[in-house]
Amino acid sequence: MVKSGDWNLSVSVESKGEETISAINSTGFVQIAKVGDLQNGTMKQFTLGSREILVARIRDKYYAADNICPHMGEKLTNGRLEGTVLTCMRNDSKFDLVDGRVIRWTDWTGIRASVSKLFRPPRPLITYPVEIEGDNILVQI
Ligand code: FES
Repeated sequence: MVKSGDWNLSVSVESKGEETISAINSTGFVQIAKVGDLQNGTMKQFTLGSREILVARIRDKYYAADNICPHMGEKLTNGRLEGTVLTCMRNDSKFDLVDGRVIRWTDWTGIRASVSKLFRPPRPLITYPVEIEGDNILVQI
């Protein structure tokens, strides 16, 4: 649990066009959103500095990850969420938001898949630890 006395720096957090000032504590947890910003089974993008971070709420647990597909950079919030499995809309790669592991690297088959894996080998989605403090969602960057 993060204690309020641990906050020592300020960063800018932007969401839905609204900008708020948040804080980063000594362990690197940053307030990125409010619990009420997300309904169960949904995800949204939040901007933290120059990073686009996806935050998802699934069965009242929160997950955070880069909002950029490791395959070819599609914005993952344009994709589909089924439980903790996130499917990229561009080439149907699937990642688990729990740990970022690749469940499927594109839906390509045959020679296309083989050549693609040579140049773009499967890479996990970068995920971030999440903590809840009161009604604040914090991520560790
Ligand atoms: S860009 Fe996401 S699967 Fe290709």
